[in-house]
Amino acid sequence: MRIYTPPPDKSITIRALLLGAIAAGRTVVRDPLRSRDTEAALRCLGSLGVKTKIFKDRIEITGAGPGGFGPGPFRLDAGESGTLARLLAGLLAGGGAAAVITGRGTLRRRPMGPLAAALRLAGADVRAARGRLPLKTGPSRPRGGALKLSTASAQIKSALLLAGLGARKPVSFREAAPSRDHTERLLKFMGARLKKAGPRLTIYPGALKGRTIKVPGDISSAAFFIAAALLSGRPLKIKSAGLNPGRLGFIKALKKMGARIELKTRTSFPEPAGNIVVRPSFLRAVKIPARDVPSMIDEVPLLALLAARARGTTVINGAEGLRKKESDRIKSTLALLSSLGARASYRRGAFTVPGGQEFAPRRPVETFSDHRIAMAAAAASALCPGLKIKNPGCAAKSHPGFFRDFRRVL
Ligand code: S3P
Repeated sequence: MRIYTPPPDKSITIRALLLGAIAAGRTVVRDPLRSRDTEAALRCLGSLGVKTKIFKDRIEITGAGPGGFGPGPFRLDAGESGTLARLLAGLLAGGGAAAVITGRGTLRRRPMGPLAAALRLAGADVRAARGRLPLKTGPSRPRGGALKLSTASAQIKSALLLAGLGARKPVSFREAAPSRDHTERLLKFMGARLKKAGPRLTIYPGALKGRTIKVPGDISSAAFFIAAALLSGRPLKIKSAGLNPGRLGFIKALKKMGARIELKTRTSFPEPAGNIVVRPSFLRAVKIPARDVPSMIDEVPLLALLAARARGTTVINGAEGLRKKESDRIKSTLALLSSLGARASYRRGAFTVPGGQEFAPRRPVETFSDHRIAMAAAAASALCPGLKIKNPGCAAKSHPGFFRDFRRVL
């Protein structure tokens, strides 16, 4: 059986770097991801005056402590990372630091209005010019309180939790649907007081202690290999992947479709991680409710791809949030399927993908500079050798060396 070890997790690496920056004492991030997005995070820490030491297998951060960045003003460039820009806004607003957060490329088109509005509800001084970057944070600390807000976005949730650490009163709000809880796990691991009662989360103001954080493999990067293994009917073992329940929506959907996938959790603190075995399977269609989408948000294009080969018609509800990713992923997913000669449609938040289709590539796949579309196209190439992909280099956002790994493993 072929074996694949995915690169370290992007979401967890960015969070570990940011939390290490405000913790008291030293944080060691073991096996961090080194990709375009995480390099942008390191540069932002540098602009905030945070000292980092980079080794082959770890990054050591000397935390500035709460409010320790100083009052600013700072100018921070988040590159193309939405997670970084949004979490930084929460972190700086919580610490009462004045900053301007800018970004590049696809990030300049992505919405920042809902994030700024959520942080302002907590009394934080955050503005987004015309709903986009730059984000501006002011020097006054958030007031906190019980917010009339319900969010399904892990990024907005995380920004609120980070702002809450520095607020004058606890901050509480509701989660509209379960999403990745990496921020919650790391906050608790580093000594924060956080309560979860049903869908309501409450963060209490307080300081963090530096810790050693081991970053597991990125399940979202592994997902492309799982899809390629299923498409090509080859067994595959994936080693040391993160198995956070908020990231397992894709695998759960595949199992409902009849995929033979086994998960073996090996370590589970602060993040569950383990091995995944994928065996050749016949897939049948599935209906995905909107509530399940946050836990597979980055894998929806892949699910649509597999659905086109399954038996029956798949419907994926609650997909409207895909418009706001690195590309308009509704458009780019439909374009990907169409360049493979497959049919699919989108109406009122739902993808409908008829199954039983053959892939017969008509033209090169347009990636729209979106790493997940480039990697989904590579997964499709397991069935369509020689498939051409335009601008495949964008895969380096989350997985440098993706195509080399892909050729080696599959
Ligand atoms: C992320 C959350 C998701 C996801 C993104 C990373 C995170 O975005 O699409 O790639 O690290 O919190 P939303 O929570 O905004 O849907």
